[in-house]
Amino acid sequence: MGDTYLDLMSSGAGAAIATRLGLPRPAPLRRYRPGVALLDGSALVLGGGPDADAIAQLLSGPPGGTGGVPDGWGLDVHRHAVPDERYAAVLVVLTDVTHPDQLAAPVLEAAATLKRLRPGGRVVTVSRPAHETDAPAVAAARQGVDGLLRSLAKELRGGATGNGVVVTDGVPVTAPSAVATLRFLLSTRSAFVDGQLVDVDLDAGELATDWDHPLAGRVAVVTGAARGIGAVVAEVLARDGARVVCVDVPAAGQGLAAVANRVRGTALQLDVTAPDAGDRILEHATSRHGGLHVMVHNAGITRDKLLANMTPDRWGSVMAVNLAAQLAINETLLTSGEFVDAPRIVATASTSGIAGNRGQTNYAASKAGIIGAVRATAPLLVPFGGTANAVAPGFIETDMTARMPALTRQVARRLSSLQQGGQPVDVAEAVAFLASPAAGGIVGRTLRVCGQSLVGR
Ligand code: NAI
Repeated sequence: MGDTYLDLMSSGAGAAIATRLGLPRPAPLRRYRPGVALLDGSALVLGGGPDADAIAQLLSGPPGGTGGVPDGWGLDVHRHAVPDERYAAVLVVLTDVTHPDQLAAPVLEAAATLKRLRPGGRVVTVSRPAHETDAPAVAAARQGVDGLLRSLAKELRGGATGNGVVVTDGVPVTAPSAVATLRFLLSTRSAFVDGQLVDVDLDAGELATDWDHPLAGRVAVVTGAARGIGAVVAEVLARDGARVVCVDVPAAGQGLAAVANRVRGTALQLDVTAPDAGDRILEHATSRHGGLHVMVHNAGITRDKLLANMTPDRWGSVMAVNLAAQLAINETLLTSGEFVDAPRIVATASTSGIAGNRGQTNYAASKAGIIGAVRATAPLLVPFGGTANAVAPGFIETDMTARMPALTRQVARRLSSLQQGGQPVDVAEAVAFLASPAAGGIVGRTLRVCGQSLVGR
């Protein structure tokens, strides 16, 4: 699914015309390839205190983690901005702020580096959540990070992104999920994640020993895997080391078989709304692959109509496929006694479920329902080292969005900080991250993959 405007802007002449006319200039995003260095330049870690020291140590320490030294990422790290340095990443550690006045020094030091940030650079804040029980100044300082980060992300250009990690009080910034989130946000895996604050709730999960294969030894099921985003999710999970069961309706059997072959997984022809869907998924995964660790709910449909014209069939089919099927499958897995080895549920919501969308009351109800469902399901999995989370894609270049009217499609693409639509792989990378053993401390959250779309938060 091509974006001709983006292609044009990637040429020298197109970019020059756009600059003269004040048109959006989307930059091609760099995507992850296994084996490629985490950053293509040095990192700046700002902020005083032990958390900033620990993060600088993590980034700069030697890989391997031998002799009692924790595993490091071997990056070139500066603790104060060096004039003229073009940083690949700027991390602003604000976990110890207790008054808004304390934001100024690290934030303004970061500001001085932004004009020279490398293309596709990363700005990441690390902070603590604000609570109503905090002293007002503490809550103000912590909440201030939210507005700072979301605004800063809107100012970055050249495919650079701004995101934050919000680590719950009492959870160390070196907890597995905090470390894995930091790495995800710094890496090209998060190319289309922008303006987001990822909450780390627990000191749980297990860090990867091989960052290129974090799903080694895991068995994953992906529904709606015959095409679109689901097919790419299957590919990315397999690339990351998982054995993958690809599920789709019998009518999509040919595409399903092709995807299953490509990822060296197995195909299961199944309508997710079937009453025995959960049992069949579990039976297939355990008999063919010896277990089930990751359940990715990706199958979804749209049947758009203004609510005034909505029919019971349009409402019912969307709710059945997008939401009720997930609830029923989860119930089966949770009560089976076989989904207990650090299990992960990753569901596919949508920015429509956050912001609403004209003509999509049924779809938005189902997608908002998913956000509520993962929030309530995750705590049930925590006793097994498990969790449930969702991704909320924005505008992604697929068959679904290719069917939109041309003008609406162009506008939807440009209405994000990255000024373009995402690719299915961008959603898949976020799913793989939430499916990984290291993400066990992220509990019931929804991660937007939307290029910081202006739609919704
Ligand atoms: P798609 O229509 O290309 O693929 C959906 C797949 O789900 C198809 O292979 C279809 O056969 C399968 N499916 C449908 N009903 C099923 C059922 N009852 N049982 C088993 N499989 C079934 O859709 P796309 O664009 O790849 O979207 C995937 C997910 O991402 C959906 O949940 C969608 O709502 C969500 N999403 C997509 C966005 C986009 O921009 N494309 C934006 C936000 C969310």
